[in-house]
Amino acid sequence: MSRADLIKPSATMAISDKAKELRKQGKPVIDMGVGEPDFTTPSHIVEAACRALKEGKTKYAPVQGIPELREAIAEKMRKENGIDVQENSVIVTAGAKYAIYLAMQALIEQGDEVILLEPAWVSYEASVLLAGGKPVFVKHDDDFRDVNIEDQITEKTKMIVVNSPNNPTGVVYSKEFLKKVADLAIDHNLFVISDEVYEKIIFEGKHRSIASFDGMHSRTVTINALSKTYSMTGWRIGYAVASDDVITKMRKIQSHSTSSPTTFAQYAAVAALKGDQKCVEDMVSEFGKRRDVLLKGLKKLGYRFAPPDGAFYVFMDTGINGEEFSKRFLEEYYVAVTPGTGFGKSYPTWVRVSYATSMENIRDMLVRLEEFRNAYN
Ligand SMILES: Cc1ncc(COP(=O)(O)O)c(C=O)c1O
Repeated sequence: MSRADLIKPSATMAISDKAKELRKQGKPVIDMGVGEPDFTTPSHIVEAACRALKEGKTKYAPVQGIPELREAIAEKMRKENGIDVQENSVIVTAGAKYAIYLAMQALIEQGDEVILLEPAWVSYEASVLLAGGKPVFVKHDDDFRDVNIEDQITEKTKMIVVNSPNNPTGVVYSKEFLKKVADLAIDHNLFVISDEVYEKIIFEGKHRSIASFDGMHSRTVTINALSKTYSMTGWRIGYAVASDDVITKMRKIQSHSTSSPTTFAQYAAVAALKGDQKCVEDMVSEFGKRRDVLLKGLKKLGYRFAPPDGAFYVFMDTGINGEEFSKRFLEEYYVAVTPGTGFGKSYPTWVRVSYATSMENIRDMLVRLEEFRNAYN
């Protein structure tokens, strides 16, 4: 079997494509399947990119990323995440997705087992498979805050992937849970990939980087990106922070694949990280208002959902088959949501609803959801 035959196209992209097709046909589509902020990139970031272009920053960049950006990331890591690193420990990549791909290519050997906490973001499984590894899905407890990882560790286990704030659940893991993962990683000599792309979008709880825990820096690859925080999904700037040894391996693979992320986009990323952070606060505050309206509406309709502490998703139980729900809700009521099966097999009746859309759309979606529920109950 070829490598490509091992993986399926991304479930979230598939829904988005269908929603776009219906919109093209003139249907009043509300897309709540999306995984990207609906805000424009802040103007000072766009201006920095224009400036970089005019200054001729249009040639190849260093494979690991421009030094200014790596320094800005290392400084952020020291100040905000409690990870004591210098720029050598940072690699800039084409989005967080490529950082995850590179980390797995660098660390996983054929047949290694990688523990994924289910429901898990769509691309972890594909990245493990493409690296020759074996994904081992472990279901969360009913409250989505804990996972019984210990029983799944075997001699072949190489890595645990954690993602907090979580996509699709929205859960922000507690210090105790992260400490448990850290202790297991140390006891069993495992790597951890910690995907922190939603770190700034938090409404309940506090973000903690597992790499800041004692003994964890050398075994953790911390993944982040500018995509969600600064509404820069299309700029494709992400990064990984890890031990120099791991970064060297990732750099080698990047040098023979993408060479580096786009040069002028990296200058814009420096402006984003070093500039005024009010744009982030404003965006999070708007997400918070939308979240409140959505949660109130869903509760009123009697839906059950995972604790929506952060990110911009609500993972809810539809009470019927989630794929069927998503299909009918889109085809008959023109609302796109993502079926839970896109995130693993254990949540067949659940769907992920993204509130990265306008307040007006959220209110309208709640009306359509009530009609849908009444029609099918
Ligand atoms: C949990 C998680 N990790 C990584 C990514 C990928 O981010 P990027 O667009 O920077 O590649 C996403 C995007 O949806 C995500 O939800």
